[in-house]
Amino acid sequence: MRARTAVIPAAGMGTRFLPATKAVPKELLPIIDTPALQLIIDEAVGAGFDHIVVVTSHAKPAIEAYFQPAPEVMAKLRSSGRGALADHLERTADTARITFAYQDDPHGLGHAVGCAREAVGDEPFAVLLPDEIMGDSSLLAQMADVAAASGGSTVGLKRVPPGELSAYGVVEPIGDVDADGVVQVRSMVEKPAMNEAPSDLILIGRYVLAADAFQAIDRVVPGANGEIQLTDALKMLAAAAPFHGVVSKISRYDTGTPFGWLTAVVDLALVDEQIGAQFRDWLDGRI
Ligand code: G1P
Repeated sequence: MRARTAVIPAAGMGTRFLPATKAVPKELLPIIDTPALQLIIDEAVGAGFDHIVVVTSHAKPAIEAYFQPAPEVMAKLRSSGRGALADHLERTADTARITFAYQDDPHGLGHAVGCAREAVGDEPFAVLLPDEIMGDSSLLAQMADVAAASGGSTVGLKRVPPGELSAYGVVEPIGDVDADGVVQVRSMVEKPAMNEAPSDLILIGRYVLAADAFQAIDRVVPGANGEIQLTDALKMLAAAAPFHGVVSKISRYDTGTPFGWLTAVVDLALVDEQIGAQFRDWLDGRI
C-alpha cells in the first residue's frame, strides 16, 4: 500500500526564532510571501498524499487559524489580480484533508510523531519536518513508491561535507547507491561526532514509514534529556524489515535557524517570477 497520510510535526516553541515566535509560530514564518507550512503541504499534495496531520500545540492557535476557510481573503486575492494564488490555495484545501493532533508537552521528535497515531490509523505514513524545505515533490514521491514496493520504510538522504554531519541523523548504508539514488540502510545514529559518523549521508527530515513505526516509538527509551528520538525508532525498523534511503538531488534548505531561513528566502527570491529580476539588481548593487 502506498502511504497517503503525511504527518507534519509543528508543536515546537521555535526558540531559535525568538522574539518573532512569541506571537507567530515558526511554521508560519514566510518564505517570501508563503508560510513554510504551506510549502510543506504543497510538497506532500504534489507527491500524492491526500491526508495531512499537523501535530500542533494549543499554545499555537495561529496554526489552526491558517486553515480556516476565508472567503473574504480569497475574494480579495481575486479582485487584486491574484486569482491563480486563490485557485491554488482552494485546490490544495479540496485535495487534502487536514486534521490536527496535539503535543502540548513536547518530548522530542519521536514523541511528536507518536501523537499522530490515532489520526494516521494502522497505515504507512510520511513524516515531513517543516524546518526542511525541498525544491519540489519528486523526492517524497519516489520515497513513497520505494516504500510501497518494499513494504518497509524509506528515508530521504543528502550527502553533506564532514563538518555538517554532527548536526543531523546519519545513516549506515549497505552497499552502493543505485542509479535511481536508492540505497539499503542497515542503521543510523543521531548527531554523531564527525569522526564517528558511519557515512556522509544525512537524514533530511523526510520519512515514509511502515505502520509499525508507532510500536517502535513506544519501545524507545527516552534519552537523558527525556526526549524520545525518532532516529531510535527508525533503528528498530531497519533491524526488522526492508529499509531504504533515497539520496536527494533536489535543492534543500534547512530553515531551522535564522541563517538557514535567510538563505532560503534569498535563493528563492532570486528566481521568483514576480520579484526575481528586481531583487537581483538590488542585491548586485548592494554587494
Ligand atoms: C531532526 C532529526 C535528525 C535530522 C534533522 C533534519 O533533528 O532528529 O535526525 O537529521 O531533523 O533536519 P533536529 O533538527 O530536530 O535537531
